[in-house]
Amino acid sequence: MGDMVKETRIRNRVEIAREIILSRRSCRAFLDKPIPKKDLLELIEAGVYAPSGHNAQNQRFLLIDDKKEIQRIGSVRWSFPYKLSISHSEMRKVKPYGIFGGAAALIFVFADTTLTAPINSGEYYIWESLETQNGAASIQNMLLLASVKGIGNCWGSSYESMNYSRLLSGQTWRDVFAKYKIPFSYKMQGAIMLGYPKHLDSRGYPKGENVHGVLHESVERHDLKHYIIQKKQNPGSEKNLGGFGWFRVKAYRKTIGFLLKCVKVLDRLIYRIEME
Ligand SMILES: Cc1cc2nc3c(=O)[nH]c(=O)nc-3n(C[C@H](O)[C@H](O)[C@H](O)COP(=O)(O)O)c2cc1C
Repeated sequence: MGDMVKETRIRNRVEIAREIILSRRSCRAFLDKPIPKKDLLELIEAGVYAPSGHNAQNQRFLLIDDKKEIQRIGSVRWSFPYKLSISHSEMRKVKPYGIFGGAAALIFVFADTTLTAPINSGEYYIWESLETQNGAASIQNMLLLASVKGIGNCWGSSYESMNYSRLLSGQTWRDVFAKYKIPFSYKMQGAIMLGYPKHLDSRGYPKGENVHGVLHESVERHDLKHYIIQKKQNPGSEKNLGGFGWFRVKAYRKTIGFLLKCVKVLDRLIYRIEME
């Protein structure tokens, strides 16, 4: 009897977890209604409980839930890594505060690189990748909990290079956040926008759009097969590169290795300049 109860409990949990994961949708249209602080702190707590490479626990969070401040940040002309189907200036006419500006709260996620830089043993690019992954794990945890709480949510592209290549507004992200105590060692990993959604789905989850906000492509997922990598039909049939082919591959690898080392040295240099 005890085992049956346990099994049912586990089955229920699995069903609930699947339902939450499969129901999460990016939501970009929010009601003008504040989110209680307790809920926002619980979202950050979900972010803190994400896994982290090398147990660095280096994810850091900046919560902004003041409407005026959100609109100020939204009105900055952020640049995005993809082409928009309409120009940035046209988008500004439709949404003067951008997509961040309509939210009731924003959470920006950073990596504290002081926790990874000292242990990088000459391979900072690996740690940098872990910093990004740690941030992403936190973001996904927060999005899932927000969905269950009925809070609309959307991941917003924000990344460290926004501090090197200026934003369309001519500012860097550090200019935008000058009033916050963000140490130079913190690198931006991403952002989420939150707000009560204009619509809920039939099960009470925030109803997302059917198409990506600006690209207008369907967000429907394909059949599982589309995503799963298959085994090779003839595993032994890789391209035989022959003598010169191998030499070329080795030369490319050496060159890439050398370039990565140069990038690392430059990165350390910039880091030192920033810390001075
Ligand atoms: C790394 C990352 C960056 C994203 N950046 C943006 C963004 O800047 N603006 C936006 O509207 N959506 C952004 N999204 C949300 C995606 O557009 C969305 O997840 C995708 O279209 C699939 O839709 P769904 O989340 O409803 O399943 C981002 C998602 C990820 C994972």
